[in-house]
Amino acid sequence: MIEAATDLRPDPTRAAEFAERLLTALNDGALCLMISIGHRTGLFDTMAAMPPSTASEIAGRARLNERYVREWLGAMVTSGVVRYLPESGRYVLPPEHAASLTRAAGADNIGVFAQYIGTLGGVETEIVECFRNGGGVPYEKYPRFHEVMAEDSGQSVLSSLETHILPLVPGLVARLEQGIDVLDLGCGRGLILNRLARLFPTSRFTGIDLSSDAIAFASAESAGLDNVEFIARDLSDFDRWAAPAAYDLVTTFDAIHDQARPLNVLKGIYRTLKDDGVYVMQDIRGTGHAHKDADHPLGTLLYTVSCMHCMTVSLAQGGEGLGAMWGEEKAREYLERAGFRAVETKRLEHDIQNNWYIVRK
Ligand SMILES: C[S@@+](CC[C@H](N)C(=O)[O-])C[C@H]1O[C@@H](n2cnc3c(N)ncnc32)[C@H](O)[C@@H]1O
Repeated sequence: MIEAATDLRPDPTRAAEFAERLLTALNDGALCLMISIGHRTGLFDTMAAMPPSTASEIAGRARLNERYVREWLGAMVTSGVVRYLPESGRYVLPPEHAASLTRAAGADNIGVFAQYIGTLGGVETEIVECFRNGGGVPYEKYPRFHEVMAEDSGQSVLSSLETHILPLVPGLVARLEQGIDVLDLGCGRGLILNRLARLFPTSRFTGIDLSSDAIAFASAESAGLDNVEFIARDLSDFDRWAAPAAYDLVTTFDAIHDQARPLNVLKGIYRTLKDDGVYVMQDIRGTGHAHKDADHPLGTLLYTVSCMHCMTVSLAQGGEGLGAMWGEEKAREYLERAGFRAVETKRLEHDIQNNWYIVRK
């Protein structure tokens, strides 16, 4: 039996509500770019430390061009981020807003994450080309990727490294204090490894990443440390050259899903981990099913970052293109295929973006 045709005429109320929602999305998309600029220019930090001030006073204090600052303030006032006092012609950043927009806000500074919108926008044309012809966009095409990524992990990982992340593995701090061998793969600019090397001078640390620029940055930052080394190398065939049973602790921070050959990297980790070693894998939290991720507080952002970065950089290397939202089920499947038998998924209350997998042989 043929079902009656669905009524395709739009419900006027729902259509109006949806149009309204898209208008909000347009404004918020624009706001993200302006928040990114406010973060990069230090305008939020400057305003947070000033009493109500004129555009010219704010521009003067921030050492910026007054005309641009005035226009930026226009976006800040219309979005409700900054309050305008018409009687005095002055602007103020309320402390409740500064709490999410300044460097003093630490891990809560949304300005850091807003930078991704501009970074992704920088490759929109290349991504559209990939939609038509397949392939991927390589790392080098992204404006400021490693810089923004390092600021992101500096904020989201470094700020809770000692208080929340190391304690995920009972006894780990004691072992690091005694002296163990640690490997961080896809280490980027090496912020986390350099911090660990400073905290635990008796342990030895190695970081590997594809990007020679990021590795050069990491090495320069490690000046004065003699227990850390950084190596620029492609991990796609890590399963073949990983030194057997060489490390007590292996870490990957947000670095498996965007590898060209994630399974080979995981197999290499299995091979290079000592029998009593532990692998800590931080990776994006998701189910792997978009409809189940509809309630994810960062769902749209993460699928966008995946499409316009994580998936495409992997495809650009001729890789698998897993994407950031590969999900816990698949992550566990890959870990099992690599040989691991004990996998615990942990979550940190303040970290809505990631799962923390504590993995053993
Ligand atoms: C999302 S970033 C994470 C960087 C760093 N772990 C952090 O948290 O700041 C992923 C990293 O994986 C590296 N990567 C991607 N493909 C790679 C490959 N084939 N071999 C080695 N590293 C690779 C990238 O260069 C990038 O630094």
